Amino acid sequence: MPSVAVIGTQWGDEGKGKIVDVLTPSADVVARFQGGANAGHTVVAEGQQYILHLLPAGVLHPGKRAVIGNGVVVDPVALYEEIEGLRGRGIEIKDNLFISRRAHLILPYHRAIEQAREALRGERRIGTTGRGIGPAYSDKIDRLGIRFADLFDEPLLHDRLRTNLTEKNILLEQAYGQRGFQLDELFAWCLAWRDKLAAYLADTGQLLREAILKGENLLFEGAHGTMLDIDHGTYPYVTSSNITAGAISTGLGIPPSRINHVLGVAKAYTTRVGMGPFPTELCDAVGERMRTEGAEYGATTGRARRCGWFDVVMVRHAAWLSGCTSLGLTKLDVLDRYESIKICVGYAYRGKVFEHIPEELDILLQCQPQYEEMPGWQESTAGMTSYEQLPARARAYIEELSRRIELPVSIISTGSGREQTIPLRDPFASAP
Ligand code: GDP
Ligand code: IMO
Ligand code: MG
Repeated sequence: MPSVAVIGTQWGDEGKGKIVDVLTPSADVVARFQGGANAGHTVVAEGQQYILHLLPAGVLHPGKRAVIGNGVVVDPVALYEEIEGLRGRGIEIKDNLFISRRAHLILPYHRAIEQAREALRGERRIGTTGRGIGPAYSDKIDRLGIRFADLFDEPLLHDRLRTNLTEKNILLEQAYGQRGFQLDELFAWCLAWRDKLAAYLADTGQLLREAILKGENLLFEGAHGTMLDIDHGTYPYVTSSNITAGAISTGLGIPPSRINHVLGVAKAYTTRVGMGPFPTELCDAVGERMRTEGAEYGATTGRARRCGWFDVVMVRHAAWLSGCTSLGLTKLDVLDRYESIKICVGYAYRGKVFEHIPEELDILLQCQPQYEEMPGWQESTAGMTSYEQLPARARAYIEELSRRIELPVSIISTGSGREQTIPLRDPFASAP
């Protein structure tokens, strides 16, 4: 009956999609609780690659229920395209998908505002994915959002869209010099998408409550990484939602006490897409090599990911914030050919060494990573499936990370494929 959460501990793209896919056979329900189509979760199954943005990775497993919770912001067009894309590849999404009626919609003006705002910011742009995430969450907090449930009271919907457009069009036309939106077209757009997705809408809070009370296994699929968390990340270079395990409770409507095991996922090194501080970033041939050998290009936007060494300060902090009970380490194989490997264990700033992340962006930008150096293993670990197979130096690297982060390692990934995995502890079995 336990529930297991998978949470990114870096800046996203840690391989959460792969880990969720590997754990799904033990789960009855897989649920997304925050973010939107800014996520890009890759699963490689039987040689086929799937990149999921809104759909929980569990949809690839027949017989599992997939939930998009109230905390997710849903672009109906992106979701529909994703469903159709999978259908075209022989994966039917029918009565196994449940979208919260409380989830907020991303409307066309959200994308337009985000794009105009980013252009205006110029060099100080955040480098968003351009999916309308920020403006949609802003409207939610500002009580201007439109939820799926709101699409069914048509006069009220029309009225609310009219009020919203009064402001949005002034912003778009007068502040940004862009075209505004027509009320009737937007209203028709909302109704059309309501009808296309109506069959999937559900009271997902109730569904999850019943699943918990029945003793089913739940898997919570986090999106993004902790350093992109709106409160705990490198603000303002963050996304617009909470990413840490606390968001599971608010984003799905389940009590915090029902989250039993939190698996923090970290890459064996670090990457970041978009702007903002990155203490261990390697702007040299080593970083370039990581990008090439790790195929570090964004799953959503195709942008080159910035690369750097593993940062213990960051992952340890992320593990604390989410109450992680184990660590999943991915992309170990990408470090196979290095003569020596560095681990950041502290940040030096004006003669002091921090073992925590400073709040001030300016200080973080000036921090010099303090490295511990370990010998590389210089042997292939690609595709290995047992811990004993790993070279001694690879094991030493993993054990050093585990010791410094103060978490046991429950899973190691040695390739993008499902089977290229070393399971060490079953998080469902080890949850209380
Ligand atoms: P997510 O957003 O956290 O789900 O991660 P992404 O899917 O955006 O990025 C992870 C990338 O690394 C994907 O292309 C995966 O197929 C790939 N990947 C995952 N685990 C491994 C691994 O252990 N080794 C290698 N070489 N690639 C991996
Ligand atoms: P997954 O789930 C990597 C980054 C963007 C940008 C910032 C804000 O695949 O790990 P947004 O569009 O969210 O307003 O952009 O956040 N970002 C991600 N980077 N992986 C992600 O998701 C990301 N989701 C958002 O690049 O810097
Ligand atoms: Mg990703």
